[in-house]
Amino acid sequence: MTTDKRKPIALHVAVPTEDESYPVLIGPGLLARLGHELRRSHPKAARVALVSDENVMPLYGDAARESLEAEALEVHSFTIPAGEAAKNLDQLVTLLEGMIAARMGRRDVVVALGGGVVGDLAGLAAALFMRGIPLMQCPTSLLAQVDASVGGKVAVDLPAGKNLIGSFHFPTVVIIDPEVLQTLPEREFACGLAEALKHGALFSPEHFQQVVAAADDIYARDADVLGRIVAASVALKAACVSRDPREQGEAGKGRVVLNLGHTLGHAIETVSGFSLKHGEAVSLGMIAAARLSERKKLAPKPEDGPGLEAQMRVALAALRLPTDLDAWLDDEHASSLEAALVNDKKRSFTSISYIALTRVGDPAVLSLTAQEIVALLRDPASDC
Ligand SMILES: NC(=O)c1ccc[n+]([C@@H]2O[C@H](COP(=O)([O-])OP(=O)(O)OC[C@H]3O[C@@H](n4cnc5c(N)ncnc54)[C@H](O)[C@@H]3O)[C@@H](O)[C@H]2O)c1
Repeated sequence: MTTDKRKPIALHVAVPTEDESYPVLIGPGLLARLGHELRRSHPKAARVALVSDENVMPLYGDAARESLEAEALEVHSFTIPAGEAAKNLDQLVTLLEGMIAARMGRRDVVVALGGGVVGDLAGLAAALFMRGIPLMQCPTSLLAQVDASVGGKVAVDLPAGKNLIGSFHFPTVVIIDPEVLQTLPEREFACGLAEALKHGALFSPEHFQQVVAAADDIYARDADVLGRIVAASVALKAACVSRDPREQGEAGKGRVVLNLGHTLGHAIETVSGFSLKHGEAVSLGMIAAARLSERKKLAPKPEDGPGLEAQMRVALAALRLPTDLDAWLDDEHASSLEAALVNDKKRSFTSISYIALTRVGDPAVLSLTAQEIVALLRDPASDC
């Protein structure tokens, strides 16, 4: 029997109300079917805001536009600067004004073609425009494919912090074409792998091992392997967000666990002055979570194998991610890390919901202060 490798894998992300359920389609060559998929979901749409950034628009903007115009859609392109600095209120307002000038209406659609920055910004524009119009996510970075495009969180940053102005706005369709990853810079690739590994660390030892075992094929940009890893990762995230679509779940039972590696990761990212990329900082944050889990005796070291920190370290190194956590825990950095942890928006009063692991595949939520987190990571004897 022959199998059609180009047939997209269809995943279905279920959220509570039927009209907010949406399909996630994954497969090589899907970008060329963007228009077809949009028309199928939105038969009455007349105009599309095609939002991308200055790196991605020149690479894939024409293909997206052609596919949309083939369905008789009027395409209005909006290109934002590349990078996190563009995820701001000014760009949001410029985009919304552009959509008004293009005479877009309630049945029209926003298409986010790009990484997580484009997805979050265009998504928030779709959430706000005329109190909400449809959004189609077409993620082009690995991080956006395995993580940011699924789950409905949309936001922009303020000078006071990341993602402070945002909403939940579920996409109507997510189109993931692993072929676009051919042009993604290697450092961005590694950042996406950190999030893919995180999904395994939280929910599936099999996925954790598969991501590591596929490292060479992944870096060789094997589209089939990438398609499988992305699909498995999205399925794990989808199952989690379906249980708790708006992050209201009880501690430990909802999507809050997706913050694994992010609490300390955000702090390290800030203290590094953003010289470390988000995924690189999350890599160090996951090593921290593993170390802290061992030191709190949540994840006892097995007699016949490596402990959790050692497993995490080996996996992240195989994925070419940074692992030197201790470089950020010396006297020079410790107090800045504590201050950055206190400023993290996820703190509730003085305690922080810190995501730990009892083992690969089983998260636990701890309530700790910033001081306790840093002390536990620096000194095994400081267990409190
Ligand atoms: N909404 C969510 O649930 C969620 C989850 C995780 C992260 N995020 C957000 O996502 C953002 C990070 O996303 P990101 O890592 O994709 O960053 P990004 O959007 O800045 O993309 C990274 C870089 O890769 C480039 N790029 C993207 N696709 C490319 C391609 N196919 N070929 C060549 N270059 C390409 C971009 O131009 C950019 O320079 C952050 O703002 C973060 O807050 C959101």
